[in-house]
Amino acid sequence: MEGVNSNIAFKPETLALIDRIINQFPQGRQKSAILRVLHLAEIEFDNWLSTDVMDYVARLLHIQPIEVYEVASFYSMYNLSPVGKVVLEVCQTGPCSIVGADRIISHIEKSLKIKKGETTSDGMFTLKTVECLGACGYGPMLQINEHYYENLTEDSVDELLSEMRKIHSNKNEN
Ligand code: FES
Repeated sequence: MEGVNSNIAFKPETLALIDRIINQFPQGRQKSAILRVLHLAEIEFDNWLSTDVMDYVARLLHIQPIEVYEVASFYSMYNLSPVGKVVLEVCQTGPCSIVGADRIISHIEKSLKIKKGETTSDGMFTLKTVECLGACGYGPMLQINEHYYENLTEDSVDELLSEMRKIHSNKNEN
């Protein structure tokens, strides 16, 4: 196939899992598996979705690449460019804003010396701002992977950053 990057391939066990996911949907509805397949793609391909990876997902699901691009760009949880080991997704929607999301974002920018959308030079942290994550009563809040960190203060953010740095620096040594 023209323009296909054949270096990109899921591990066999991931492909088997994807088959099982696809088979949960009626025949011809394999596109419904797209969110879960993109999630697996991020896990397997450095936590972001390159065009080559999205094209690969399109081939697996027998859909057009544009259909994958549309979904991947719609949801803020997917990364469309390389990111750090730890992606901080800070909610900036109204209820969180009222209780200090902007203050938390500025504090993170200052502490990490990056702006929204950027990654620290050591590749450790990426800062993203996102819309409501459904924890509006517990703001300001942020998400790292599947974990929520709520009622944030400058001090709790400092603790969180140093805890994350410790965990992910240790991972390098293993
Ligand atoms: S407004 Fe921030 S979680 Fe809903």
